[in-house]
Amino acid sequence: MTLSLNEQYWTSRYKQNLIGWDVGQVTFPIKQFLDQLVNKDLRVLIPGAGNAYEAAYAYASGFKNLHILDISKVPLDNFLEKYPDFPKSQVHHENFFDHQGKYDLILEQTFFCALPVELRKDYADKIHELLVQDGQLAGVLFNREFGNDNPPFGGSVEEYRSYFSNLFEIKKMEPCYNSIPPRLGSEVFIKIIKK
Ligand SMILES: C[S@@+](CC[C@H](N)C(=O)[O-])C[C@H]1O[C@@H](n2cnc3c(N)ncnc32)[C@H](O)[C@@H]1O
Repeated sequence: MTLSLNEQYWTSRYKQNLIGWDVGQVTFPIKQFLDQLVNKDLRVLIPGAGNAYEAAYAYASGFKNLHILDISKVPLDNFLEKYPDFPKSQVHHENFFDHQGKYDLILEQTFFCALPVELRKDYADKIHELLVQDGQLAGVLFNREFGNDNPPFGGSVEEYRSYFSNLFEIKKMEPCYNSIPPRLGSEVFIKIIKK
């Protein structure tokens, strides 16, 4: 691949408003997942959070120990402008692979598919490092191919299992029944626990 998916790339996508992934609100799968969690004290990370509608929803629902991270400052600034009271120490302008921290829960939505495919194993390793024992990664992954040279990059359950099954107990990796309409039938919901 010749395209470099670095900070400059993502910032230019935001500045040109080429953000087809941005649905403008918390998505149903993440909302419903959050709604059934009882423990609001969980330390939560949303990597590649973008405009972070999921974070706004989670924070308003009582998850105060919530961190968002993105390689581009643009969406993080948008978020802080909308939510000036959100703790700045919980907003990380950083490459995911450089981030240090410990979390009980990491939420995934259209971040994994935005990474170069050759970094997928590194993603699994980094998620493992960032989670506490029995911590979990939950969210959605695409279950289709796109056939493009630029993100999103698709994949299959079989491929995803190859990255995660050594390090995690795969509790759920199944067709997502409550995807947003444009993604219906093309996502799997995942819930995997650090071994
Ligand atoms: C496809 S967008 C998804 C944004 C958001 N999750 C959503 O659903 O609207 C991918 C996001 O990941 C960020 N990103 C890409 N590579 C990253 C990296 N290595 N570390 C942190 N963020 C990264 C991009 O800046 C972008 O905001």
